[in-house]
Order: sequence, then C-alpha cells, then structure tokens
Amino acid sequence: MKTIIYAHRGASKLAPENTMPAFELAYKMGAEGIETDVQLTKDNVPVLIHDENVRRTTNGTGFLLDYTLAELKQLDAGSWFSDQYRGTSIPTLHEFLQWVQDKHIKINLELKNNIIDYKDLEKIVYDHLEAFNLLDRTVISSFNSASIHQVGLIDESVTTGFLTSQKIKDLIDFAKDQGARGLHIKYRMLNPSIVKEAHLNNLYVAVYTVNRPIQLRRCFRLSCDAIFTDVPNIAKQTRDMLS
Ligand code: G3P
Ligand code: MG
Repeated sequence: MKTIIYAHRGASKLAPENTMPAFELAYKMGAEGIETDVQLTKDNVPVLIHDENVRRTTNGTGFLLDYTLAELKQLDAGSWFSDQYRGTSIPTLHEFLQWVQDKHIKINLELKNNIIDYKDLEKIVYDHLEAFNLLDRTVISSFNSASIHQVGLIDESVTTGFLTSQKIKDLIDFAKDQGARGLHIKYRMLNPSIVKEAHLNNLYVAVYTVNRPIQLRRCFRLSCDAIFTDVPNIAKQTRDMLS
C-alpha cells in the first residue's frame, strides 16, 4: 500500500499555513490529502488556524476565542509570510469544505482542543462534514483523547486518529479504547515495532511532520500509512523515486 501524502496545514513551506492559497498549492502539487487545524470563534464558527493566539500567523493579537468571525475576517493571515499573500484571510471550515467538495482529495481535520476545550467542537465539525457529504474521505484527529471518544459517540463510523508526540504507556490499547482507527505520531516516535504492533492491532500509522527526504524515505520503507509534510512536492518526488 502506498503511503498517503497529506499537506500539513496546506503546502505550508511555500504559502501561509492554513490559508486557501496553501491548500490550493498543495492540491496543484498533487498532495493526496490536506491536514488542517480547527478551532472556534467567539460566535462558535469553526475556522482553520493552528495557534490559540492569532499573533504568530496574522497581524492581530490575542486569543482566537475572543474574536467573532466578522472581527477575525478583518485580520490579514498572509502578510506575515510574504507580501505576495497580503489580504489573505483565515478561512472558515465551511469555505474549505466548499472548495474541497469537487476535488479528488482526502482531508484530515485536526480538532485543536487540547489547550482550549471548545464546547461542542466535535458535533459542529461533524455536522459540517455531513452537510457537505465528506465524511467518507475525512479523518478527524486530536491530541485530546476525550474528543476522539466523543466523535465515536456521535458516529462510530467516522475515521479518527489519536495524535501523540510522546510514547505513553500502552499507547495502542489506549488509542483503541478511545475508539481511534489510527495513531498519528511524531516522527521521533517512529520505529519498525510501533508500525508492526499498530498494524497487528488494525490501527493505521500516520507520521508528522516529515519534510526531509531521508526521513520521508524511512516512512515509506517502514510502510507508514500516511505522512504529513509541509513540502508535498518533495514528498511525492521522494516516493516516486523509491517505486
Ligand atoms: O496533525 C498532525 C500535526 O499537525 C500535529 O501537530 O502542532 O502541527 O498541529 P501540529
Ligand atoms: Mg495540525
């Protein structure tokens, strides 16, 4: 089985992360999936941004949850990256799914609720996916294990991935107990036995964030099911050269 290449926050090395230009570029580069991070505005609208604070990736300051959507849309989410992207705004989940709808591409929505526990984020995201009929090509992931469990309670057929950056005790049993279908692990956790054990337990393995060809090759050779990369063009080239 070919390792699926997900563009991490879009093609985020070459365009501002988690913006429509980064998603469009990832699609043009032939990424097979797009990973993006979901949080809620003050008025409960799901939007795509990685940090809880808007400072790093916009020209604003303060916490996302203190902004209404209308206020958030005034912020520039492109000029911090380069002048070329001035005027780019933070996308809503709705805008993203509308764009995804007619494209042949998978999505991974990472619920960013490990620091701020956004009320009903799971259900809000689920309802969006259902409305766009995109549940069958979506993975929902989170570092928050309770959230993974919650998605399963809403609809047990949804593919969920438990994200972790650390080797926790009995990781595989823990992930299965939450109802996860896969492990989304940090690259430094990768070794042949974690892949083997996960596969024996019917869990898939996805690895983040893999940008260097030497690391990409290792993921492909170890039969990881998916990788997340800021450089989908390099990941594709690297995978093509192995096959
Ligand atoms: O979903 C994989 C990866 O995005 C998790 O870490 O911090 O980049 O969202 P982070
Ligand atoms: Mg993420």
